[in-house]
Amino acid sequence: MIAYENLLELNRPFTERFKQQFEEFLNSGWYILGESVKCFEQQFADWNNSAYCIGVANGLDALTMALKAYHFDPGSEVIVPSNTYIATILAILNNNLTPVLVEPDIRTYNIDPLRIEEAITSRTKAIMVVHLYGKCCAMDEIMRIKEKHNLVLVEDCAQAHGATFKGQKVGTFGEFGAFSFYPTKNLGALGDAGALTTNTPELEIIVRQMRNYGSEKKYYNERIGINSRLDELQAAFLSTKLEALDAINNHKRELAGLYLQHLKSDFILPVVDDDYHDVYHIFNIRHPRRDELKAYLLEQGIGTEIHYPVPPHQQKALQFVLQGQRFPIAEEIHRTTLSLPCSYWHTSAQIKQVIETLNRF
Ligand SMILES: Cc1ncc(COP(=O)(O)O)c(C=O)c1O
Repeated sequence: MIAYENLLELNRPFTERFKQQFEEFLNSGWYILGESVKCFEQQFADWNNSAYCIGVANGLDALTMALKAYHFDPGSEVIVPSNTYIATILAILNNNLTPVLVEPDIRTYNIDPLRIEEAITSRTKAIMVVHLYGKCCAMDEIMRIKEKHNLVLVEDCAQAHGATFKGQKVGTFGEFGAFSFYPTKNLGALGDAGALTTNTPELEIIVRQMRNYGSEKKYYNERIGINSRLDELQAAFLSTKLEALDAINNHKRELAGLYLQHLKSDFILPVVDDDYHDVYHIFNIRHPRRDELKAYLLEQGIGTEIHYPVPPHQQKALQFVLQGQRFPIAEEIHRTTLSLPCSYWHTSAQIKQVIETLNRF
């Protein structure tokens, strides 16, 4: 069996170091916002070429706090791709704002800049781009639109740690980059974890206080905050894995390269463009008989996933805001996409076996 993902295998190279780190953590007697969080924040900011990094509890909180920092009037509109993971939309709703869904480019699966401009109204305050599957969005055009219309830009970088456009890393284009370190991500913790990156000192202070009850100095509260601190133990584990993140991304790129080179043209493959350095959090293909293909692969002992089976506007939970809206491109992607094994622990031999099996379908 070639599993789609196996977190035990993924973390095996790091387990001895993790055990040591747990021992150090236990013996430190300091369990919340200690040296490990501070150290990881600095390391991640440096690695990402960001001025600041603030560790938070998860990716959804990072997205939610990025918008909360602006106190937009209730009902203000935020543009978001129609094929994103639900978290991006929940962050908008958590702030009593209105999500305005914009279709992706069917080639890249990322928000289509041409359609962003059509969706802007006098109530639009922000754009939330999502660098989906590990590919950076078309940032030249998006930055032009942001500046022309004076909009806040929040980047959802949950799937794209280390992806670049023209050499610039995700999480450095907008006011905020929101990262998730959910265990399956390219940089994954052993539990929930997330972070915001920013280059603006005032925003750094707002979020640093907001994640800790609005306080930096114990029992002195500067603003209304929440409890969304990056866990001290997860921060230690993340520092260890950050050292390997370039190797993890490179390995995934090599596996993706095998698929790109050897899969038959029956499958619609992700596009590759010189301006983009993709990190393949997810390696997806599309096929009109996706469900049959998935079942066939499983029969042959190959696990796959679907990111995602139901688009946001068809989710039951979102009917109260999105009911009646249609997004045919998102629907087409959700109907045809299939994510193939492409993890740090997969070997080239395993991926070649997946390719041979796929090419026999
Ligand atoms: C695109 C995207 N945004 C946001 C999130 C939310 O991250 P988390 O699960 O850490 O809250 C995820 C991850 O699951 C994601 O894939």
